[in-house]
Amino acid sequence: MISLKTVTGLTLGILLLTSCGGSKSETETSSPPELSTAQLVSIGKTLVDNSDCKTCHHATNKIIGPSHTEVAQKYAFNDENIKMLASKIIQGGTGVWGEVPMTPHPDLSQEDAEKMAIYVLSLDGEERK
Ligand code: HEC
Repeated sequence: MISLKTVTGLTLGILLLTSCGGSKSETETSSPPELSTAQLVSIGKTLVDNSDCKTCHHATNKIIGPSHTEVAQKYAFNDENIKMLASKIIQGGTGVWGEVPMTPHPDLSQEDAEKMAIYVLSLDGEERK
């Protein structure tokens, strides 16, 4: 006969298993998979870290360009600003923070530039709207 203790242990084990891997397989059926903002932020951070952004931008200090935290504080974290900043990253820009222009990044896809913008906009701790 199975003791109550074993049953409780089993149930706990199953609960732990499902809570770790369960939610992932559910979302994987839809294509393209919907990424959470947290996932997009972390992909965006990797993209920024591996691009030339850090030549001119630091997360918290102004270098040649404004710190990315300052940029986050200036703009609300919404779809409109994600798209607007993504185009700025691709096309370059000037006149918002001073006369120094940001170089264009024509090799970036709109999707990657949006992930970078999502990462930048997350830096002041604001929730995405
Ligand atoms: C050659 C230096 C340089 C590089 C490289 C650079 N930036 Fe910039 N960036 C700037 C400057 C200067 C500004 C301010 C432009 C302005 O005043 O409109 C700026 C502005 C921005 C803004 C705010 C735009 C706005 O309209 O407020 C974002 C977001 C941004 N950069 C992201 C990035 C990302 C992401 C990368 C890497 C893919 C990058 N930048 C690479 C110099 C640079």
